Amino acid sequence: MSHTQGELLYEGKAKRIFNVSGESQLIWQEFKDSFTAFNGEKKAEMKGKGQINRAIASLIFQKLKDQKIPSHWVADSGDIHMITQKLEMIDLEVVVRNVLAGSTAKKLGMAEGTALEKPLVEFYYKKDELGDPFISDDQALLLKTVRHDSDLQKLKDRALQVNAVMLKMFDEAGIRLIDFKLEFGYDSAGEILLGDEISPDSCRLWDKQTNEKMDKDRFRRDLGDVLENYQEVLNRLTK
Ligand code: TMP
Ligand code: ASP
Repeated sequence: MSHTQGELLYEGKAKRIFNVSGESQLIWQEFKDSFTAFNGEKKAEMKGKGQINRAIASLIFQKLKDQKIPSHWVADSGDIHMITQKLEMIDLEVVVRNVLAGSTAKKLGMAEGTALEKPLVEFYYKKDELGDPFISDDQALLLKTVRHDSDLQKLKDRALQVNAVMLKMFDEAGIRLIDFKLEFGYDSAGEILLGDEISPDSCRLWDKQTNEKMDKDRFRRDLGDVLENYQEVLNRLTK
């Protein structure tokens, strides 16, 4: 079934969100060519970025669907759009780590690249004004952003299921999945679905042979060849 783009609802840092004409439960997501990091302090435009991220996100959502892991993804439309189910978003960023890097490596004073015996799942409060702080499970409950206390465990279980599928998918593409961030929401039936996007913006991806970074750290840390690396991730996933 073909859908028609409706009016703009919201513009975020990396996406524009529109209604779908005549469909109250669907939204139309447009992937922008923008890069932002450090809570919007660092910015750039790179032509073609939206198309690459849309393609990678769609591949991952379809793979998850094959494995019976529900997400908001409904269909692609053209090169930079995807149609998704409307969700009431949970204000948590659910981070899964297989290898220590970034903020947790820094916090624990451990080297980036330290392998973990089992994956870590962490909650961050999604609030730009506060810089998305790490929070404990009890603090997450205090926010009342999940409808039932048991939903926190559901988020952890779901995040680990996503991790298992993505670890295999990236490994087969010659890429180490170091860590990534997920966002979830409730659909109109009250079911928890994976939302937002999964792309090199929200994952750390290192080349399996060389450990070369292939993700947004290239932008954050001024490593160069940002889009070339995003494109290489896409090429390897579609090989
Ligand atoms: P961190 O090491 O900065 O906490 O990030 C962990 C992973 O989560 C990394 O792959 C980047 C991703 N992430 C986002 O995509 N958005 C965010 O706002 C944060 C805090 C992390
Ligand atoms: N905290 C994330 C980053 O450093 C996202 C953001 O700042 O908007 O990329």
